[in-house]
Amino acid sequence: MAQLNVNGKVRDFTAEADTPLLWVIREQLGLTGTKYGCGIAQCGACTVHIDGVPTRSCVRPVSSVDATEKIVTIEGLSADGSHPLQKAWAALDVPQCGFCQSGMLMAATALLKAKPNPTDKDIDEAMTNICRCGTYNRVRAGIKAVAQGSTKSAALAIVHTDGSTT
Ligand code: FES
Ligand code: FES
Repeated sequence: MAQLNVNGKVRDFTAEADTPLLWVIREQLGLTGTKYGCGIAQCGACTVHIDGVPTRSCVRPVSSVDATEKIVTIEGLSADGSHPLQKAWAALDVPQCGFCQSGMLMAATALLKAKPNPTDKDIDEAMTNICRCGTYNRVRAGIKAVAQGSTKSAALAIVHTDGSTT
């Protein structure tokens, strides 16, 4: 039995050391918002935060993460879809099929936390996620809408159900 800290809670799991973090998150913890796309760190569908760093969980062995590191998945972005990026995504109809969008939102959240007013170049460098529906322009518009509407880092904080933030 091992433990992970996910969305503000310590969770128990059992898995082989080389099991990708993605599969523990999805199959053992039941957090299926994080998606499997390519399995080779190319598409970004599996992106979660580990201590605030966007990480492609399909290639991250679960044994390389311990319970002192804070993992945040799409389910932990907000309790009710009220994170500014989630609101912008809804207002601008960013998702099409939606499959890539959890990863997009996790990458965008980390970008805005690091750079509240990103340039196009910043966005291009940070948003390397692949979208088969071609939502790239709307993703960019959503990021810019949040950047222009709220440059305060507090508004971009991820608030967990226990009140802690990352
Ligand atoms: S599933 Fe992890 S990057 Fe594609
Ligand atoms: S919205 Fe369909 S793959 Fe991105």
